[in-house]
Amino acid sequence: MKKATIAVTLIALGTAALAHGGVKNKDVMARMEVMKTIGDQMKIVGSMAKGQTAFDAAAANAALTEVAAQAAQIAPMFETQAEDPKSEALPIIWQQWDDFAKLASDTEIATEALIGSITTEADLAPALGKIGGTCKACHSKYRE
Ligand code: HEC
Repeated sequence: MKKATIAVTLIALGTAALAHGGVKNKDVMARMEVMKTIGDQMKIVGSMAKGQTAFDAAAANAALTEVAAQAAQIAPMFETQAEDPKSEALPIIWQQWDDFAKLASDTEIATEALIGSITTEADLAPALGKIGGTCKACHSKYRE
């Protein structure tokens, strides 16, 4: 491995550790990991949409497949009420569980419907907009 590659890898690992540093509750950690994976996949598509990385239809569709698979994990991962000082999850999640679970399924369904639909660069932004709207619908209610 080249020195530069190693440095970049270490920085990447360090950032991930920092973002979740100090989280003690394992259930909270697990659900944060699901969200982080979803976020990372969205970034892959986002940087293609911005022209920061080369357009790759297969990679974009693969990222959407992963987002849909992880979105299916949101409800099971949050079902048990778990708390941690580092968590940004609002306690009303468990008072309005059915609504929260529906919003999770909205993300899954919207993303699932878009898998395979990315054929040109112009397909990226509308897909991101549709999926992103479902992320926002939940975050604006249930995330600090
Ligand atoms: C049904 C609700 C819901 C949906 C849908 C949802 N999220 Fe989240 N997300 C949350 C909650 C709640 C947290 C805070 C979790 C915590 O800190 O315990 C969170 C946290 C995050 C985080 C921070 C994770 C970390 O490292 O701590 C990212 C990134 C994220 N979400 C991205 C997304 C993206 C991108 C989507 C859409 C593709 C999405 N989320 C859809 C509820 C949701």
